[in-house]
Amino acid sequence: MANAWFESVAEAQRRARKRLPSGVYGALVAGSERGLTADDNTAAFAELGFAPHTAGLSNKRELGTTVMGQQVSLPVLISPTGVQAVHPDGEVAVARAAASRGVAMGLSSFASKPVEEVVAANPKTFFQMYWVGSREDMVARMHRARAAGAVGMIATLDWSFAYGRDWGSPFIPEKIDLEAVRKYAPQVLLRPRWLAAFARTGRIPDLSVPNMTTAPGAPAPTFFGAYGEWMASPMPSWDDVAWLRAQWDGPFMLKGVMRVDDAHRAVDAGVTAISVSNHGGNNLDGTPASIRALPAVAEAVGDQVEVLLDGGIRRGGDVAKALALGAKAVMIGRAYLWGLAANGQAGVENVLDLMRDGLGSALVGLGHESVHDLRPDDVVVPPGFERRLGAGSPAPQGTPTPG
Ligand SMILES: Cc1cc2nc3c(=O)[nH]c(=O)nc-3n(C[C@H](O)[C@H](O)[C@H](O)COP(=O)(O)O)c2cc1C
Repeated sequence: MANAWFESVAEAQRRARKRLPSGVYGALVAGSERGLTADDNTAAFAELGFAPHTAGLSNKRELGTTVMGQQVSLPVLISPTGVQAVHPDGEVAVARAAASRGVAMGLSSFASKPVEEVVAANPKTFFQMYWVGSREDMVARMHRARAAGAVGMIATLDWSFAYGRDWGSPFIPEKIDLEAVRKYAPQVLLRPRWLAAFARTGRIPDLSVPNMTTAPGAPAPTFFGAYGEWMASPMPSWDDVAWLRAQWDGPFMLKGVMRVDDAHRAVDAGVTAISVSNHGGNNLDGTPASIRALPAVAEAVGDQVEVLLDGGIRRGGDVAKALALGAKAVMIGRAYLWGLAANGQAGVENVLDLMRDGLGSALVGLGHESVHDLRPDDVVVPPGFERRLGAGSPAPQGTPTPG
């Protein structure tokens, strides 16, 4: 058998592309509209350089830190992703990989595996929710996650239901029925290894979202059924954010903050952490890369809440750049999804190992012993790189956010 190990996330992506039916692969590429934001997320990291030292370097590489009360061996977390049909073990394989590498994981409420199974595989799991349905249902989902042992909550609110991609959206069936089989058959038959992996489990992907029910084991809605409920839900206010936060007795992250004024509001709402994020470029296209928005946000609230970043991380050097510019840790999305598609649990471990090794090399080159020593002058930031979104005078509490 060919060596399943891969040396870069780019190679994992190539293998994922070969292995997955084109519709599933397309769902992971995601992006929206022109793909400006998704592209900028990675391009911006390439604009940043390093300022390495030559001698006097150290062999020590302290990569561990704490995030939302959890000791982690690496400042890289698994970002929640609601995707289906990548691998039969889905988020359980990701959780096992994360646990084996001492890394925390965000589990999406649109994921394919129940929170109980995922927490059993990795106790360092944060449950991620959108603002969907009634308050009673949201509280019940939180109780379920708490009962399962989730150790933190992530609320993701940066979603504006944009759809339409210039390169075309994949066909995603409501459920696997005859019509879906007919439409999917050509692309699936071209991907025998993917099919064989599911066939071995005796199940076909059912495209349901088991964490959207309020009780474990209850019949789960389909992905699109839950999506419809989400679209029909009123958009939350900042008071709602504070309310949601108050329902969870423990660490709470608001994911998807890009602006300094919103970061201040998140602090006022009592969150533990924020992630500077544009949803991996899947939301409002034309939003700048999250790494461009990071420095202003970190400067404004970094001493009050934990500031994380996600979007565009493809290598350990990217992690070093984000930490140097003020992030406490980063979260990865597509990188581990490519790994999962390429080689299941081992593929996700492979990606985490690449992150660890790349970050370690960056530390050595920059003359540091610990991730906590990274600082802005380790990176070369070209003029005009940063975007200080919403960094004018802070709006009073409760003021509607423009845009
Ligand atoms: C296919 C896909 C599905 C996603 N689903 C979710 C989700 O259910 N909840 C969420 O908070 N973020 C979701 N995200 C966003 C990721 O958590 C993360 O913000 C993003 O992927 C980071 O960018 P990267 O993919 O460049 O690392 C999704 C991203 C992708 C690519």
